Amino acid sequence: MHGVFRSELSSMNSEQFNKPSIVVLASGNGSNFQVLAEKSLSGELIADVKALIVDRACGAIERAKKLGVEVIILSKPWYEDFEKVMANLKPDLIVLAGFMRIIPEHIVAKYFPKIVNIHPSLLPAFPGKDAIKQAYDYGVKVTGITIHFVDAGIDTGPIIFQKAIEIEENWDLETLESKIHKLEHENYWRVINNLLHKPYKIEGRKVTWGV
Ligand code: GRF
Repeated sequence: MHGVFRSELSSMNSEQFNKPSIVVLASGNGSNFQVLAEKSLSGELIADVKALIVDRACGAIERAKKLGVEVIILSKPWYEDFEKVMANLKPDLIVLAGFMRIIPEHIVAKYFPKIVNIHPSLLPAFPGKDAIKQAYDYGVKVTGITIHFVDAGIDTGPIIFQKAIEIEENWDLETLESKIHKLEHENYWRVINNLLHKPYKIEGRKVTWGV
């Protein structure tokens, strides 16, 4: 997929004229969702978080309620409901944050490059589930986070951003998990902000900023 992209500023209700909108999809704890919603409320992330979308009962729902963000629970089959919800909300960017589903090819084809994901390892190392534990158990000395566009594979899409962290010898798995989540919380909202407000190019697997 080639081309210059900048998300369309399609969300133009009277209160938030010209502010782009995102939706966040989660299946679990929801800490990344919470940071995105808080940064939106503080105005640091210049985007309207239109909804938290979940495919199951999970901790993220309670966080959304506390923050006053609408919660949408996808009914089965989730991907059919997903398309209806997207047609209705028309977000500028679809943000996956711990959404435990593989996105089917026809959805990727329709929305690319509007779906982004965060993964808690330096891809292509340790894709899939329990990436932090995979990296820890493997004994790597450096791991990190990856933010990428979603394609039809598992954690295989073009890489937008990576940040590494050195694993110190006295760290247990819980320490590494908390360091990784901190990195995620510091960086995901910034990258999303950039995607919404700066031009970028995708040439094959290479993502670059600017025109
Ligand atoms: C994060 O580690 C993210 O990288 C992965 O799922 C986890 C979600 O955590 N895709 P949370 O639900 O945002 O707390």
